[in-house]
Parts: sequence; structure tokens; C-alpha cells
Amino acid sequence: MEKPALPEHEILDLLKRRWSPRAFSDKPVPEPILSRMFEAARWAASSYNEQPWTYILGVKAEDTAEFDRIASTLYPPNAWAKSAPVIALSVAKLKFSHDGSPNRVAIHDVGAASASLTLQALAEDVFVHQMGGFDPKKAKELFGIPDDYEAVAALAIGYPGDPEELPEALKAREEAPRTRKKIEEFVFRGKWGGGRF
Ligand SMILES: Cc1cc2nc3c(=O)[nH]c(=O)nc-3n(C[C@H](O)[C@H](O)[C@H](O)COP(=O)(O)O)c2cc1C
Repeated sequence: MEKPALPEHEILDLLKRRWSPRAFSDKPVPEPILSRMFEAARWAASSYNEQPWTYILGVKAEDTAEFDRIASTLYPPNAWAKSAPVIALSVAKLKFSHDGSPNRVAIHDVGAASASLTLQALAEDVFVHQMGGFDPKKAKELFGIPDDYEAVAALAIGYPGDPEELPEALKAREEAPRTRKKIEEFVFRGKWGGGRF
């Protein structure tokens, strides 16, 4: 299934093709593709080049127990993600390594790394659906995530599947049109809310 963006200004094809599926095929994601995804994350920009991201990876075909442990942190509305062949958790280091001060943009930088990873995956037809709907405390306990680190998002990774296999409510969301704010609603000139783009 494809669900391309309908941009008002021309954008990169990869950005147009990206969307967040809930139905995944059980086809495994080849290891070299996963390596290239995390390589893409590796080269993301970050404040002080801190690279505050860590990923905890669960590959169903390799280690079902590990996959299930990650999946067990998902909140029930995200149960669909268990059909993906790969799940990951992104984790942010909240303090700078050079002086221990709070890194206000750590979560931002983890998001940027995940965006890079998502687009690299898509270049090889692998889709990533990020989720905030999981229990970060449970993740911390299950995986021994240290203090000063915080689980940020769960990522379902794989090839798109058949929406017909989803429960009715999810199928409707899968097939619903994609909507976005207008650029004028989030780009201002001069002052907040004024001199719109
Ligand atoms: C940080 C983050 C958290 C998200 N959390 C969830 C989630 O818990 N469950 C879910 O189904 N989708 C989640 N999404 C996906 C968004 O709902 C989706 O990106 C948005 O509706 C736009 O759709 P698109 O990605 O297909 O363009 C999340 C996306 C991001 C980036």
C-alpha cells in the first residue's frame, strides 16, 4: 500500500513516500538494511556532537523473546505493532558527556536521528512507524536503562502489509486521507502569529 503526501510545493520523493503504516508484512528486514538505517542515524547532527541516541533493537526472526520484551512496553492501542518484523526503542541521554549539564535538546536530537533512519529505510522500501504510546518506566526497568537516560519512542519497522488484516477501526485509519496544517499556520515572520509566510 502507498499513501503519498500531496504537497503544495514540490518536495523530495522520499519525503512524499514516507508514511506510518500499521499493517506490516511478516517479511524480515535484511540485516544490511538495518545496518544502513543505524548508519544513517549515526550521521545525524546533534548538539555538541553528543549523539545522545541509543536504540534497543528487537528482531522477531532472530530473538522472539527479545522482540516480545520490547513489544510488552507498548500501550494496548499500539498492539498492531507486534505484526512488524522489527521493533526498536529509541533512548536519549539527557546530560552532556563533557560537563554533565542538562542537554535540553537531547530528545530533539534523538528524533532527528530517527528521522534519518526512517528515510534511509524508506530508500529500500522499509517503513518505520514511530510511537510515543509505550511505557517508558517499564522500558527502563526491563532493559536496565541507566539514570539520566529516557526512552523516547518505539519504532515499528518493516515492509507494509495488507490493511484488510487490521481490525476495522485501524483499517479505517490506515485508509484515511493524510492531512496537514497549512505552512502559514506554523511559519511566522517578524512576530509570533504575525507576518505569516
Ligand atoms: C514521536 C511520535 C510518536 C507517535 N506515536 C504514535 C503512537 O503511539 N501510535 C500511533 O499509532 N502512531 C504514532 N505516531 C504516528 C503519527 O500518528 C503519524 O506520524 C501522524 O499521524 C502522521 O501520519 P504519517 O506519519 O503517516 O504522515 C507517532 C509519531 C511520532 C513521530
